[in-house]
Amino acid sequence: MPDAFTQAIRIHRFGGPEVLQWEEIPLPPPAPGEVTIRQTAVGLNFIDTYHRSGLYPLTLPAVIGTEAAGVVEALGAGASGVAVGDRVAYTGLPPGAYAAHRNWPADRLVKLPDGITADIAASVMLKGLTAWYLLRRSYRVQAGETLLLYAAAGGTGTLLSQWAAALGARVIGVVGTAAKAALAREHGCAATVLAGDPDFVKTVREISGGGVAVVYDSVGRDTFFQSLDCLRRHGTLVSFGNASGPVEPFSPMELAKRGSLHLTRPSIFDFIATRADLEAGTGELFDMIGRGAVRIAIGQRYPLRDVARAHQDLEARRTTGATILEP
Ligand SMILES: NC(=O)c1ccc[n+]([C@@H]2O[C@H](COP(=O)([O-])OP(=O)(O)OC[C@H]3O[C@@H](n4cnc5c(N)ncnc54)[C@H](OP(=O)(O)O)[C@@H]3O)[C@@H](O)[C@H]2O)c1
Repeated sequence: MPDAFTQAIRIHRFGGPEVLQWEEIPLPPPAPGEVTIRQTAVGLNFIDTYHRSGLYPLTLPAVIGTEAAGVVEALGAGASGVAVGDRVAYTGLPPGAYAAHRNWPADRLVKLPDGITADIAASVMLKGLTAWYLLRRSYRVQAGETLLLYAAAGGTGTLLSQWAAALGARVIGVVGTAAKAALAREHGCAATVLAGDPDFVKTVREISGGGVAVVYDSVGRDTFFQSLDCLRRHGTLVSFGNASGPVEPFSPMELAKRGSLHLTRPSIFDFIATRADLEAGTGELFDMIGRGAVRIAIGQRYPLRDVARAHQDLEARRTTGATILEP
């Protein structure tokens, strides 16, 4: 019998938000190399809905969640680099962040500098490192380039657009509503396009003067070909999400006939797989935040036990900026 327990959101089957259950689960002592974290802020991410629905399958039952911040409470044998009482944060797999306490490898933790609160860390470990690798690794955005970004008023979008603007790029943000357009403009977008614009491609090609250098498309199935149509010759589509469902199979000839395009379908976890990459990414990210070049827009908060409501709002496009779940 484990001698300790914690509260967590666990799923026993894949499905809608109704499968998210608030439960007491065992909390074993930290294994060698691990620490126990008392989590004070958990991040909400679209990937959590893919884990919940089974689009990205997990072994069940499973606690989901991929991003959190808190305080180190206990060290397992050989865990180094952090001490009890340190403020820390992480993102990564396997999921399990929707919990009051969690055991996690010490060498996958980041210590939080002064000025990076738990709420900020739980907003940027996954979403901000995504903005970092999308702009700095997947496709290296250059000053003067124009890019198209979907969900520009969202958690990842508000970070990426500010960072891109700070690099000297011109961001055209795609948004669902006029209210979101205002928020996107406050966070680095030079122009916005409504997702439902019947002349979407024409509008983007006009604003960009003949097509954008790169499209960051997190919507997936519904926007894939429209995104290719917005690119200039030799442009790059970075397809990095499935908010509308996964992209269907297609012929590579579609890239040739639109101007010898490039396509990549990246995942954050390949860009922070090594300790060196994790430190490079968080170093640049915390520096951007510290200099005020990237501000964190926390749009809403929910008690962790009410995360089903948060999933409903996220999937119904009702959230803006980042969402904090309070354990
Ligand atoms: N590959 C990676 O490494 C990686 C890492 C992080 C995030 N992502 C992806 O980035 C995207 C954004 O994630 P996030 O957590 O920051 O969420 P978010 O952007 O805060 O929320 C999702 C937004 O997507 C837009 N959207 C467009 N079509 C949608 C649809 N059919 N259903 C729901 N939303 C739709 C909505 O904005 P509008 O109403 O304004 O259109 C919605 O608010 C997700 O697709 C996620 O999977 C990928």
